[in-house]
Amino acid sequence: AALALGGCGKQGGGNGGMTVGFAQIGSESGWRTAETNAAKASAKEKGVDLRISDAQQRQENQIKAIRAFIAQGVDGILLAPVVATGWDQVLKEAQAAKIPVVLVDRLIETSDKNLYLSAVTSDQVLEGRTAGEWLTKTVGSRDCPVIELQGTVGSSPAIARKKGFDEALAKTANVKIVRSQSGDFTRSKAKEVMESAIKAVGGNKICAVYAHNDDMMIGAIQAMKEAGLRPGKDVLTVSIDGVPDIFKAMQDGEANATVELTPDMAGPALDMLAAYKKDGKAPPKWHQTPTKLYLPDTAAAEYQRRKDLY
Ligand code: AHR
Repeated sequence: AALALGGCGKQGGGNGGMTVGFAQIGSESGWRTAETNAAKASAKEKGVDLRISDAQQRQENQIKAIRAFIAQGVDGILLAPVVATGWDQVLKEAQAAKIPVVLVDRLIETSDKNLYLSAVTSDQVLEGRTAGEWLTKTVGSRDCPVIELQGTVGSSPAIARKKGFDEALAKTANVKIVRSQSGDFTRSKAKEVMESAIKAVGGNKICAVYAHNDDMMIGAIQAMKEAGLRPGKDVLTVSIDGVPDIFKAMQDGEANATVELTPDMAGPALDMLAAYKKDGKAPPKWHQTPTKLYLPDTAAAEYQRRKDLY
């Protein structure tokens, strides 16, 4: 069963009086934990009673949580969909109960976009393209075999971050993915996947690693170090999120680049729900969060700035 993470009491702020359910995925990565913490802080600041459920990365738990929120008669629901498909039925139930749903950080595939009010996400294809463009530019004309560590199979960031990266690599002939496997957005799985990639491809043949999130890169860095490789020096790394640990790795010369994803997805989503509750006007279908590439030159300062925020 979905596990309650706890609620945030009503206090001050402009959206007071709302009760909102958050069907969160789990705590698979540092970024995910930061998103949950940012949601709690936003709800507190805005005076929203936020009920968070942790689905432990299982879609059926998220569906159960949404049904529980409907039964509780919440004013709105935030959904971070673990995978992209299979949501229509439960979203129809929310719609029938007149409860608006805002997607946060991941998108869904549906033939009826009226099933959700709006989505607060980054452009995940752009994230992949940004990572790929940095890599092709950095590598220049030399041959570069790349290991790709994909996110959760069937999730929108795994699909889109692969697509964007592939688009960037399609512009060159010398940078090629030689092995691509899911590390499920976790450090431990990615470490295992990297260990087998090193054995299969040969450590000294790997030019770069692209991971769909920073946590998987941290696992891959560990695997590379244990195999006697020097990540950040012999093997280039690029990943996505901007968590403190990747800045620490960049500061230590063990990682080369990260594409930032803001953890504050709930803030804009709660504002949308409050405005919709007030005037009934549908907001734009997509609230896009910014995408920014970070390199080692600012890593020390970024690590200091972020380490206590996460
Ligand atoms: O959906 C966003 C992704 O989910 C983050 O990049 C990753 O760290 C998380 O697990």
